[in-house]
Amino acid sequence: MINEKLQAEFNEQINKEFFSEYLYLAMKVYFQEQNLQGFVNWFDVQVQEEHAHAMGMFDYLNERGGSIELKAIEKPVVEGNTPLEIFEQVLRHEEFVTSRINHLMDVAEEVKDRAALHFLDWYLKEQVEEESTVSGVLATLKLIGDDKKALLLLDKDLATRTFVQPVIG
Ligand code: FEO
Repeated sequence: MINEKLQAEFNEQINKEFFSEYLYLAMKVYFQEQNLQGFVNWFDVQVQEEHAHAMGMFDYLNERGGSIELKAIEKPVVEGNTPLEIFEQVLRHEEFVTSRINHLMDVAEEVKDRAALHFLDWYLKEQVEEESTVSGVLATLKLIGDDKKALLLLDKDLATRTFVQPVIG
């Protein structure tokens, strides 16, 4: 049986991962409206990844005999009106998620749940990858500035991203 405090943190994080899915879906809408189909694809993949992150925790909590509580998902707000501003928000959000995973690990450590720590290790590595990918796009967007042709080239590049179902844990 999983510790109640840790269970509450897992439930909170399941909600945050679903919120991430929702936030990226809202960003996808922005890029659909701009007709930047490569960015749309990038966010499509991001949406699927966040769903997988949420379900990974959902399944784990169930496997551990925990009680799953689905909470209301906050309305996502896209901050900014340019691809650059939106990717700045993506990075801020991923940094927030990283801090949440670190917090979950702190609680797992506090209640001496080594199995949960081992499980959460996957999420920690995933966050390093997420932040690095987003920082890469952000750096390119900074270089691009107002150059529309360069933006279309990046859009072409982002169209090649594909979703791979992650093996979590
Ligand atoms: Fe599930 Fe992008 O963190």
